[in-house]
Amino acid sequence: MTQPCATEIRLASRPQGEPTLNNFETAAVDLPELQPGEVLVRNTFFSVDPYMRGRMNDSKSYVAPFAVGKALDGAAVGQVVQSRHPGFLPSTWVASLCGWRDYFVAPAQNLRIIDATQAPASAYLGVLGAPGLTAWVGLHDILKLRSGETIFVSGAAGAVGSVVCQMAKILGCRVIASAGSAAKIAFLRNQLHVDSAFNYREANIEQELREAAPDGLHAYFDNTAGPQLEAALGRMRNHGRIALCGAITGYNTPVPGPRNLGLAIGRRLRLQGFLVVDYLHRMQPFLEETIPMVRAGKLLHQETIIEGLQHAPEAFISMLRSGDAHMGKMVVRV
Ligand SMILES: NC(=O)c1ccc[n+]([C@@H]2O[C@H](COP(=O)([O-])OP(=O)(O)OC[C@H]3O[C@@H](n4cnc5c(N)ncnc54)[C@H](OP(=O)(O)O)[C@@H]3O)[C@@H](O)[C@H]2O)c1
Repeated sequence: MTQPCATEIRLASRPQGEPTLNNFETAAVDLPELQPGEVLVRNTFFSVDPYMRGRMNDSKSYVAPFAVGKALDGAAVGQVVQSRHPGFLPSTWVASLCGWRDYFVAPAQNLRIIDATQAPASAYLGVLGAPGLTAWVGLHDILKLRSGETIFVSGAAGAVGSVVCQMAKILGCRVIASAGSAAKIAFLRNQLHVDSAFNYREANIEQELREAAPDGLHAYFDNTAGPQLEAALGRMRNHGRIALCGAITGYNTPVPGPRNLGLAIGRRLRLQGFLVVDYLHRMQPFLEETIPMVRAGKLLHQETIIEGLQHAPEAFISMLRSGDAHMGKMVVRV
């Protein structure tokens, strides 16, 4: 079989503030001949994630920056087209870190086989992928959330937040959720059945938290930092726990704060940052617990699909913005 030529999206220049379409370019590349142990994969879906914005800066972080003029990458799911590995027959569904392109050649050992008969393949980028694992680890390993506790979740209608809200409800907790549009608030109330939801862009956040949790918060799952972290700090109970998952408020332009961090001392709070990449060994138990919940309809798999590789830059830019552009996990269908 002849090798297809691949199309990939590259970083054309480093964004200053919010990314624009000019920061991206599309290129065609020839694929190499398969070597023993390698497979050719056709991507079906790939993920656009907030952490990619940090990788577009030329700064030191926990993950290397993207190189200007080179293809972007990230989580993807697709099917093997050609194989020189006995364990990866053609049509096998695999998860990879080779997103932002249609085809790629890689050693099979770098890929993970996924069971697309159990759930739609795209779910392995959302509720059954890194966002779902982030939610699960954050609730169980970091916050050690217990039934009957009250938790506040920011970024609650997004990929991670929507899973956090549902898992906390299943655990028997009282869930207070925030998001940035009326449609997202309706989604949180009517489909995720949270106990209380507010639009952080319009509300007085601390007042909302006071009304929704008069006795204070046991836990806060922080996807945003910024004003919501500051307001949550003001409402934490003694010995409360905060999982520092994301700080999207400052991804395009850094923001200072919180100004009231000193409260953590008197209230004996525990604030813990974490990275899902440190918990990949928990993927199997996570999937064993979560796949049956998705299949039973107990865990809603909410996603927004953008059609076409060429629209990935728009998908990424709108995913980073507040508003109605996406609900749940944003993915690109190749
Ligand atoms: N620690 C880890 O290992 C790990 C892993 C995955 C993700 N994360 C972090 O978790 C957070 C959520 O990620 P995700 O993949 O689930 O993304 P997401 O929530 O699906 O998408 C990002 C959303 O953030 C919200 N947002 C944008 N600007 C904001 C601002 N200034 N203030 C408050 N919210 C803002 C927007 O929703 P609204 O319309 O509601 O404003 C936007 O749609 C991110 O901070 C991400 O970096 C961390």
